[in-house]
Amino acid sequence: MPRVLIAGCGYLGQAVAGLLVADGWEVEGWTQSAESAAKISGKSYSVRAVDISQEKQVLAQTGDFDAVIHCASTRGNVDLYRRVYFDGARNLLYRFSTSRILFTSSTSVYGQNDGDWVFEESLAKPKHETGKILRKAEVFVRAGGANVVRLGGIYGPGRSALLKNVLHGDAIIDPSHDRFLNQIHRDDAATAIQLLLKQPRPAGEIYNVVDNQPILLSECYRWLATKLDRRVPVAGRSIARSASKRKRGDSDKRVSNAKLRAIGWTPRYPNFAEGMEKSVLLTFDHEGA
Ligand SMILES: NC(=O)c1ccc[n+]([C@@H]2O[C@H](COP(=O)([O-])OP(=O)(O)OC[C@H]3O[C@@H](n4cnc5c(N)ncnc54)[C@H](OP(=O)(O)O)[C@@H]3O)[C@@H](O)[C@H]2O)c1
Repeated sequence: MPRVLIAGCGYLGQAVAGLLVADGWEVEGWTQSAESAAKISGKSYSVRAVDISQEKQVLAQTGDFDAVIHCASTRGNVDLYRRVYFDGARNLLYRFSTSRILFTSSTSVYGQNDGDWVFEESLAKPKHETGKILRKAEVFVRAGGANVVRLGGIYGPGRSALLKNVLHGDAIIDPSHDRFLNQIHRDDAATAIQLLLKQPRPAGEIYNVVDNQPILLSECYRWLATKLDRRVPVAGRSIARSASKRKRGDSDKRVSNAKLRAIGWTPRYPNFAEGMEKSVLLTFDHEGA
C-alpha cells in the first residue's frame, strides 16, 4: 500500500485524505495542535500533532512516505507565515528527500493587476510579504524536485469568506476598485491533488488550481445578494475612501487552469455560482456564519 503524509490536515487536507484513502493509500495526517488532531481522530487514517516548523520534531519522525503533501496554513503574522510555509517546507524536504513532494501554494504569488490572464509561466512577483514568502518556498521546493499547486480562494461546505461578508453586512461593491477573484471549490482542489499524485513524476512542475471562470468581486456580491435576498451597498463618497485604502495593492488577474485541464482534470463546480448553489448554500449555517 503506498503511503502519503498530509502535513496540514485541515479543511483541504481532510478532503484530500478521504479521496486518497478511497484510492488505496495509507494516509497519515499531521496537524499543529493536539486539539485539532483529537477532533479528527476516528477517521479511516491516522492523525498526529507534529509541528512542521520545528526542524528537530520533523527530523525525529520515523517512517517513510511515497508522497508528502505540504498542506499547512496559518493566518498568523509574517513571522509565523515564514515558519509554516518556508521552514515547514524545508523541514519536510530534508526529512523526506526521496518522497514525491507536493507543496500547496496560492495564486496570490501573481502580483499582476491589469485583469489579464495569467498562466503558470507568467511572472510571479507578489506584492505582499506573505506572497513573497510563499514564492521563496516555491523556488526552494522546486529546486528539490517538488511540484507546486497554486490554489485560488478555497470555498465549500461550511466555508465561504464572501458569503460571510454578505451575511455579516461587511460586503461593499466598489466599482472603482473592482477586481477578479479566482476561486476553487474544496472538493475540486482535492481531486486536482489526487490526480497529480497519479501523474508520472515530473519534477518542479507548477499547476494553477482554480475553477473555469474568474469572477468580478462586484458580480460575486451581486449574485450572493440576489440569492440571499440581502442588500450589498455600493461605495459612495462616504465609504469610497476606506474601501480604496483597503484595496490598494491588491492584485487583479484571471488565473488560467488550462494546464491542469490538459492532463484530464475537470472541476465538478466549474464556476462560483454552481459551487455555491449545488454545494454550499444547501448546507451553510446562515445563523452561525
Ligand atoms: N484557504 C484558502 O482560501 C487558500 C487559498 C490559497 C491557498 N491555500 C493553501 O491551501 C492549503 C490548505 O489550506 P486550508 O484552507 O485547508 O487550511 P486550514 O483549514 O487552515 O488547515 C490548516 C492545517 O494546517 C495545520 N497546521 C498549521 N500549522 C502547522 C504546523 N506548523 N505544523 C503542522 N500542521 C500545521 C493546521 O493544524 P491546526 O488546526 O492544529 O492549527 C490545520 O490542520 C494551505 O497551503 C493554504 O496556504 C488556501
